[in-house]
Amino acid sequence: MRNKIVAGNWKMNKIRGEANDLVNALKTASIPAGTQVILGVPSLYLSELSSNLQGHAIKLSAQNCHQAVSGAYTGEISAAMLAAIDVPYVILGHSERRAYFHEDNAILAAKVDAALEAGLKVIFCCGEPLEVREANGHVAFVQKQLEEGLFHLDETAFANITIAYEPIWAIGTGVTASKEQAQEMHLEIRKMVAAKYGDASKSLHILYGGSVKPSNAGEIFAQPDVDGALVGGASLKADDFTQIIQA
Ligand code: 13P
Repeated sequence: MRNKIVAGNWKMNKIRGEANDLVNALKTASIPAGTQVILGVPSLYLSELSSNLQGHAIKLSAQNCHQAVSGAYTGEISAAMLAAIDVPYVILGHSERRAYFHEDNAILAAKVDAALEAGLKVIFCCGEPLEVREANGHVAFVQKQLEEGLFHLDETAFANITIAYEPIWAIGTGVTASKEQAQEMHLEIRKMVAAKYGDASKSLHILYGGSVKPSNAGEIFAQPDVDGALVGGASLKADDFTQIIQA
């Protein structure tokens, strides 16, 4: 039986005091047994929030890292820098990184390698744009993202991967994939992983992302292949995020 993961992706939101206020509020929330809460916060706050959350069950995630070990990459952060401040997770392949920062599957494969090499766990995002969904190409689209971004890993390395399925048309739009659409794609993803890695597919966590909110979290989480969520907007409000955790 897989536990649930509820991860927040704050994106580029929250000024320092607000970030601490939100974390302090979430620290007092009651977290159901077997639920792992992860906060993907701006990298600037990781060190401070890592100290704040010392000994707490809530874990932190970065939202990106560079693929190189070190060097002349102005403005970038390496996986080893994250590991050194006890950040256990990094989100890679978010559709906003793919779209605005031109991260393709080859770059993402290199980032995944760098993150795992530094000992991080990876939340790897995939998901199709609306026109691909409308042309019924969504399964093939996601398969290519996984094949090119992840499936070079061996089985031992793959055990450190969580997949987040985030259909682009559902991100920040208020339109959520239906529970049937989410379950269909999550099952397809699990089948792809089973074909490549066998039984590792049974322990793989597949999170849904895209306009998850308190009102729809429960029915999405009830789907057999949905192991939790990657939450954007609703993770910025302590009350909403707490309700999602409790769902
Ligand atoms: P929203 O929950 O705001 O739609 O964002 C989803 C997302 O992109 C999480 O990574």
